[in-house]
Amino acid sequence: MQDLNRILRIKLLTMLQKINETARFLIEKYGNKAKIAIVLGSGLNDLCQDIEIKQAISYAGIPNFPLSTVVGHEGNLLFGKLNGVDIVVMQGRFHYYEGYDMKQITFPIRVLKAMGIETLILSNASGGVNPNFHIGDIMMITDHINLFPEHPLRGKNEDMLGDRFPDMSEAYSKILLQKAEQIAQKHAIPYQKGVYVGTQGPTFETPAEYKMFRILGGDCVGMSTVPEAIVAHHAKMNCIAFSIITDLGVEGMVEKVSHEEVLNAAIVAEPKLRLIVKELVKVI
Ligand code: HPA
Repeated sequence: MQDLNRILRIKLLTMLQKINETARFLIEKYGNKAKIAIVLGSGLNDLCQDIEIKQAISYAGIPNFPLSTVVGHEGNLLFGKLNGVDIVVMQGRFHYYEGYDMKQITFPIRVLKAMGIETLILSNASGGVNPNFHIGDIMMITDHINLFPEHPLRGKNEDMLGDRFPDMSEAYSKILLQKAEQIAQKHAIPYQKGVYVGTQGPTFETPAEYKMFRILGGDCVGMSTVPEAIVAHHAKMNCIAFSIITDLGVEGMVEKVSHEEVLNAAIVAEPKLRLIVKELVKVI
């Protein structure tokens, strides 16, 4: 037992050292003016077109960062301005199905926090299980159901990073959500709100699984976002997340789905989301 405690303590200290080392490296190189970070998910890369990119660094060049392995996930950290507001952008994220553990997946979020980021904007592509949803819909995530087989906060807790037993009654900021809704309404951009079910992938769901997720209370299902949102919330960052519905897992309508289709559907919907995010950073 003492041995286990020692090992867990060493693991935690190593993680803290790595977070600090990486944050220091990035701050020294790029500064720490930004208070907002954006994580770009599948097919949302075009959001970068609106960003005045000042500096870009490939994940491979950042000490302690894991490497991205999926086509369509570029793997760069961008520093720049969106609509005149300083931001940091994760162009590509890490997924559980790629083989990383939860600490690796959420490591960049810890680093962003250590760099002074206060607000995290997450985006992803997902399969809709709500029968009222359509392909190309934007869903603002109000809540999630965590079905990943590993928890990002498992292990010895470091009180400096967050609480041992974090409250999750508002993982996604209601104030940010309200602001995003106001922007969408102002521009007559239709949107949905709902619960994101986070699963490990890499398989898309069977018809029975889509049905189960709907029965469980989900509106859409995807393979990301939940670990990052949990860690952001643990770190007391404000978090908002957007999902683009790229396929439907609605009973009687489940069709074959491929990664290419997901990317294509996301690209079509993306300009609307882009506009919302662009205006949102201005009012945070
Ligand atoms: N299921 C899981 N993840 C996804 C889906 C889906 O249908 N679509 C896009 N990402």
